[in-house]
Amino acid sequence: MNLLKIGTAALVLLAGLPAAAQKVAASKPISPDLFGIFIEDINYTADGGLYAELVQNRSFEYSPSDQGGWHPLTSWDYLHEGYAMGSLSVESAAPLHANNPHYVQLRVENPFQKGLGIKNSGFDGIALKAGEKYDFSMWARVKAGAVPLLVQLRDAKGTILAETTLSAKAGEWQQYRAMLAPNASVPDASLVVLVTGKGVVDLDMISLFPQKTFRNHPNGLRADLTQALADLKPRFVRFPGGCLAHGDGLDNLYDWKKTIGPVEQRVAQRNIWGYHQTAGLGYFEYFQLCEDLGARALPVVAAGVSCQNSGGSWRIGGTGQQCVPLADMAAYTQDVLDLIEYANGPVTSTWGAKRAAAGHPAPFNLHYIGIGNEDKQTLEFRERFKLIYDAVQAKYPAIEVIGTVGPSPKGDDFEQGWAFANQLNVPLVDEHYYENPEWFLANNRRYDSYDRSKSKVYLGEYASRGNTLFNALAEAAYMTSLERNGDVVRLASYAPLLAKENHTQWNPDLIYFNNSTVVPTANYYVQALFGQNAGTEYCANVVSLPTTVAADTVAASCVRDAQSGDIIVKLVNAGGSAQPFTVDLSRFKGMNSVATLTTFAGPKAAQNTFATPQAVLPQTKAYKAGRNFTYTAAPYSLTVIRVRGKRG
Ligand code: AHR
Repeated sequence: MNLLKIGTAALVLLAGLPAAAQKVAASKPISPDLFGIFIEDINYTADGGLYAELVQNRSFEYSPSDQGGWHPLTSWDYLHEGYAMGSLSVESAAPLHANNPHYVQLRVENPFQKGLGIKNSGFDGIALKAGEKYDFSMWARVKAGAVPLLVQLRDAKGTILAETTLSAKAGEWQQYRAMLAPNASVPDASLVVLVTGKGVVDLDMISLFPQKTFRNHPNGLRADLTQALADLKPRFVRFPGGCLAHGDGLDNLYDWKKTIGPVEQRVAQRNIWGYHQTAGLGYFEYFQLCEDLGARALPVVAAGVSCQNSGGSWRIGGTGQQCVPLADMAAYTQDVLDLIEYANGPVTSTWGAKRAAAGHPAPFNLHYIGIGNEDKQTLEFRERFKLIYDAVQAKYPAIEVIGTVGPSPKGDDFEQGWAFANQLNVPLVDEHYYENPEWFLANNRRYDSYDRSKSKVYLGEYASRGNTLFNALAEAAYMTSLERNGDVVRLASYAPLLAKENHTQWNPDLIYFNNSTVVPTANYYVQALFGQNAGTEYCANVVSLPTTVAADTVAASCVRDAQSGDIIVKLVNAGGSAQPFTVDLSRFKGMNSVATLTTFAGPKAAQNTFATPQAVLPQTKAYKAGRNFTYTAAPYSLTVIRVRGKRG
């Protein structure tokens, strides 16, 4: 028998379990950070997705190393309108910045009124809304004289939706800005820049942003997609991966320092998922997003080794793990320490000053850092992990480090990773698993027997291989177990989070989207219901599960939120017949009966898609909760009963 005793809480039997079940405390504090989100630039999550930039390949840095066939003019067309005479070339002799080596040169011999220029088709077209304002910007350089430019938004037929003129002056690189307000809403516009006078003009960083980004930040995030993330009420945000963090080979490790500062000076890089990362959504924007969401930041850095699947070695069973030479580990480790200083250091520190220069003098209050992602537990990995871990512990003892235990819920890397973490007393480890819904239902007791004296768990990636209601309910049942074990599972995040239509490399995902539509899946609504109804205390012995049905298909939890005083009961019925749950709230003193009842139910295979985006939606109504009551949960349903309680 595993006795859990927390504080002075009384020990009682957890109702709904067989007589031989473990005894648990009547209530126990659970992690205030339990449910969060995992952001990785996979499936066009960042560029073409969350990052609100509408111009694709704005800096002419696409190359075949990003994707076969890509080049500096990918997504651009050469516009040679009317009888205009001249030429276009891609140059690199005197760039805007060494980190941004390519630019376009337009040489106009005779514009013949219409001019000569380039047209960008965005990420599958540029979606524009009438009545909204868009910020255009561009860097240009003209050798001599002033050259007139015409900037237009055009629809797919070439109709002009908005336009403005600019005059590029002779001299060095200079940034030009304008505001464009289209007169129609279209899903597939393009941005045109025409040189309408004789001359030679160099162009780079041609950009178009909606003014309405999330919280209206410049260089900001797409408002509708980010609002969908905010609605999950995440307590933390993990970034930038996933495999993206440890990269495809050493030259592809995610280097946070290359993602901050003016966007034209950031270093673009090949994305491990086969496209291009501008780093426009970089570490500053990630920290800012966390702050906007009221979530803790959880950056993950490579443990001085690349992904073991580097170079496509997964095809032959790995290991393509590449290691930072030991001679370079001091510098690599310093980069990790600098990251913490960037987030938390005073403005007088080297890296805190850079944060302040970006417009955020106050610290971001970083508390967690992940070191490594699903890494093969080689000696080389361990040696490097320990160097980084020791350095972080020594300089920043208040930071909680998260280690890594492989890509599966069991196996060699899992066992060895856990043993290594316990040996070093790593505060938390990052478990990952993608399994069938039946696995999630059958493994509801996984964490009940975890040793509370060892490292705690961050369930950093999990999903049940599908987006049906049944998948979502299997995850909901599992999440009740995460709440029950919220003392040992401190953090959990579904993965992956976002996937763009026609660019989805990994299924399932939590949210699907295209340029104008956001489709939250059934799994999303489960995450949202748990995030919006999180608690700070787990209350055992409140819900009795139905006894007439296979235990695997039903699950329940009861939590209390100390801030509001509300009691929240969650009932999951992942089976095909209605089931009675008994709820006993009699121990909560001063509780009133005013409650809300949210049901999320439907056919087992129901699924939200672009064609049927609202196939399953939660429904909320007022409810009167008795002190003792039986609630019959519909087939295939999650029910959340939130009872107004007493604060304190
Ligand atoms: O979530 C997608 C991928 O799955 C992550 O990049 C990786 O960590 C895991 O294998």
